[in-house]
Amino acid sequence: MTKLIAGLLCAFVTLQGSLAFANEQDMLTKEARTVMKGFGMELKSTLVAAMKSGGPVNALGVCNTKAGPITMKNARDSGWNIRRTSLKLRNPSNKADAWELAVLNDFEAKKAAGANPKKLEHSAIIEKDGKKTFRYMKAIPTGKACLLCHGAGIKAPVKEKIAAHYPSDKATGFQLGDIRGAFSLSKELK
Ligand code: HEC
Repeated sequence: MTKLIAGLLCAFVTLQGSLAFANEQDMLTKEARTVMKGFGMELKSTLVAAMKSGGPVNALGVCNTKAGPITMKNARDSGWNIRRTSLKLRNPSNKADAWELAVLNDFEAKKAAGANPKKLEHSAIIEKDGKKTFRYMKAIPTGKACLLCHGAGIKAPVKEKIAAHYPSDKATGFQLGDIRGAFSLSKELK
């Protein structure tokens, strides 16, 4: 009888433990989504304004000078590590780490199996450099406006400016609906 009670108690404690864990991960996922949306909207509105005022060549220069500072500002304001990454990079400093690379490859496999790229996201709590870390990624699909600078038929003046700023650019040749890359957010847990 005591054994049974002990067993039940044990099961209960374990269940509570995993529920707490699931709740923590759910809460962090929600927070990451909110931070990512704010960041994504700021990037997009900056891009749209730059396109309106001077077309893609001007917007390319704006992306070049503003993408980094906008990312840093959103990270500072939110307390999250924020970045964008991709399997085909424009800016080499956005290179994926091993965890991000595995998630990006998994997104590609899921898309190939028919998943909607707009809905692909992944979160996990992992050990990073000996510290418990929450990580979140969300795929960024290629929209029509992205093709001007990431598509197959990029116009000569845009192409030249890309080559000038990003001599090792790999981020062209994308088609509508392709996964252009992903947002990647992380936070060290106490
Ligand atoms: C006006 C040209 C232009 C347009 C339009 C554009 N991008 Fe980019 N994109 C860039 C530049 C320039 C960079 C490199 C920014 C940097 O130096 O961090 C970049 C970088 C990125 C990155 C970061 C990963 C990497 O390769 O360095 C992602 C993801 C991305 N773009 C997605 C998109 C998506 C999605 C759209 C459409 C909504 C889009 N871009 C539209 C010029 C553009």
